[in-house]
Amino acid sequence: MTESPFFFTWQRQKGARGVQLRGGSGVHFETDEGRFLDLGSLVYQANAGHGQQRIVDAIKAQADELCLSTPQAIYPAKEALAEALLAKAPEGFTKVFFTLGGSDANENALKIARLFTGRYKVVSRYRSYHGATFGASSLTGDWRRAAIEPGIPGAIHVMDLDEGIEGTQIPRVLELEENVGAVFLEPVVGANGVLIPPEGYFQEVREACDRHGALLVCDEVLTGFGRCGSFFAFERFGAQPDLITCGKALTGGYGTLGAVLVHERVASFFDDEELVCGLTHYAHPLSVAAALETLRVYDDEKMIENAAALEEPLKAMLAELPGTNPRALGLLGAVDVDFGVDRLKALGEALRRRRVHLHLKGARQLRRAHGGAVVVSPPLCITEDELRGGLQQVGEAIDEVSG
Ligand SMILES: Cc1ncc(COP(=O)(O)O)c(C=O)c1O
Repeated sequence: MTESPFFFTWQRQKGARGVQLRGGSGVHFETDEGRFLDLGSLVYQANAGHGQQRIVDAIKAQADELCLSTPQAIYPAKEALAEALLAKAPEGFTKVFFTLGGSDANENALKIARLFTGRYKVVSRYRSYHGATFGASSLTGDWRRAAIEPGIPGAIHVMDLDEGIEGTQIPRVLELEENVGAVFLEPVVGANGVLIPPEGYFQEVREACDRHGALLVCDEVLTGFGRCGSFFAFERFGAQPDLITCGKALTGGYGTLGAVLVHERVASFFDDEELVCGLTHYAHPLSVAAALETLRVYDDEKMIENAAALEEPLKAMLAELPGTNPRALGLLGAVDVDFGVDRLKALGEALRRRRVHLHLKGARQLRRAHGGAVVVSPPLCITEDELRGGLQQVGEAIDEVSG
């Protein structure tokens, strides 16, 4: 048996190494090894930064007021959060279904789409991650799906946004396959290497969904809440989904909450049909209070504007790194490095020594034959100088292991 009394995720337990976290402030977090510059927003949820006292205070106040709830309970923060989220969604979005995180947001979106359309097939991409629950794992295209196969019936994957593939295959698949109820897309593929779709891509998929009666679901779990320089990333591409799933930075990481935002054309179906979805901790007060205050922090501290303003500087900084294909949308950026597993591991160590945290992706995670990627996604409160200082360190670390 290994030493730890709990499992570490996504790995063999033998030799698994955790990290002693001790809090943080702004764009830094503290560990037993020292203070790290967070260029990864932990696992993409810390968009509001570390040590946000306003969010902590809101959770404490909610705990004093009302802590224990039921799915059917009504209380002020729950209504206020649903209204605040709908106000950020495009016109016509009228309902929120709360979940505990991103995976079960996709899980419930899958059920809502099936109930609404009566169709069981669902299209997603090989270059994608949609979560770890069973349905969301089945939608996922990357290596994390293989271990649970066979997944849910009707999950179809396409090769969009892969090397050498131009445009989208989704319209063709919708033409050939009957019974497709939904298409799930990350507006910008996040964990699989920051793949920004080409001009016109989203419109093409939207039109195909309309032609064939499938719902378009945008998975904004990683890209939402300002990450890509707009509240939701799909806003950058001029097409709108029917359902929006979110999680991660909805609470800035201070609570555990996800949500499915639903357009009226789908939501109204459930006026007379049972919504066969529910969770004991639906809209838990502590997480709801965290989310409500987090949204206010994004607004008051103009964090989403900051993410938009730093897009071009980030692209320029990434272009100066010793890598290829620099790319960024808002404060989600990446550069490719021609490293195998060993060199990528050495890069991880070199960054650790410099106390810089970000996301390194190997060929397996990227679904590529070789090479890797360095993915940058700092808290949205970062300054241009902090970003430049951090990326200089990344450049030095790449140089160190390239020689
Ligand atoms: C795009 C996307 N969807 C869904 C998920 C799953 O979210 P969670 O781990 O909060 O369940 C993730 C997590 O990384 C994600 O990046």
